[in-house]
Amino acid sequence: MLLNRGVIRIGLPMPAVSEFDLVDVDDPYHFASASELSLFRRPPPIANLRFQATIMIDGRETFPGLTILQDLAHQADVATTGHAQSALHLTAQEQQQIVTFEVGLFSAQIRDKDAGKLNAKGATGGPEPLVTEPFYIGINDPFPNGDPTGKVFDPHVFNVFDAWSTLQGAQHGKDGARGSVSRGQDLFNIRPIHLIGVKGVNDDLGVPEFVGSCTTCHDTPNSGNHSKSGPVDLGITTEARRMPDEPLYTFRNKVTGELVKTTDPGKGLISGIWKHIGRMKAPSLHSLAARAPYFHNGSAATLLDVVNFYDTRFAMGLTDDEKEDLVAFLQSL
Ligand code: HEC
Repeated sequence: MLLNRGVIRIGLPMPAVSEFDLVDVDDPYHFASASELSLFRRPPPIANLRFQATIMIDGRETFPGLTILQDLAHQADVATTGHAQSALHLTAQEQQQIVTFEVGLFSAQIRDKDAGKLNAKGATGGPEPLVTEPFYIGINDPFPNGDPTGKVFDPHVFNVFDAWSTLQGAQHGKDGARGSVSRGQDLFNIRPIHLIGVKGVNDDLGVPEFVGSCTTCHDTPNSGNHSKSGPVDLGITTEARRMPDEPLYTFRNKVTGELVKTTDPGKGLISGIWKHIGRMKAPSLHSLAARAPYFHNGSAATLLDVVNFYDTRFAMGLTDDEKEDLVAFLQSL
């Protein structure tokens, strides 16, 4: 699994207090149990942390009342006593040094083989512009009372390739490729998506359908992660999408008796809350070309697979040209 999909096994127990029981474990490796569920996840990028609102895909290192810097300090200590198997905790000073180092790391694609330099002709690709890109928790959040400054949501989350919009008519060579990247940015920002059955959106807002775009969830300007901690369930962990080597867990709601099957309960395993099962954070979207496969479980081998997932899941009706443009954009971030 490590070699094929780049996933690492995370062992996490059932929460001490929860709204559900674990009633069945179907683990091809015959290891997982309520005391240690096996969750196979991609290690998240540790660059561009300055824009994060949620630490870890299931938010388990994000604590109410703590700042992201405090969350990161805690995460560093837990990884030292856990993964690194240290008998000693990090000192407060060591934690601080790690965090200072981490939040100074920026990563983005600099060059694309077709479009060439990603900061040519007025575009602002590459890591340097990220260093000064404004951010605060909740910036540009699309949901009611989202942005703490009261600013209205702007779906134009990425403007990196605005200067290339004049090249959208170009047919060949670098300019043709740049036009495609720019069209992909437009699609990402504003192409409507009808969100249906997304836990964390439809149930929390109480709306059967929410018309948004890719930037409804990927809303942090020029970073693309969600600017507030609010993981959502896209449906990646359903039984239908299970890969043969993944464990499948069956949970039962203690009150209603309802059953749910999932390969990864995400935030539900941290909070113990039934409706959180399957929820994952929307991650930042830089340096994607360098780190396939995608999604927490590596289930999308390529960026086209990612785009096809959204196209199918939300019946977007993307044409082949639109898919190509979206991929050209994503691989230029
Ligand atoms: C309803 C919220 C939502 C919408 C809308 C949405 N995403 Fe996502 N996106 C997520 C979440 C959550 C994840 C993480 C899922 C996981 O790993 O299980 C994700 C992951 C991704 C990833 C993988 C990143 C990685 O590092 O593996 C890419 C690429 C991506 N989205 C692109 C898009 C594109 C393109 C669109 C529009 C067609 C889009 N997203 C629309 C929530 C959303």
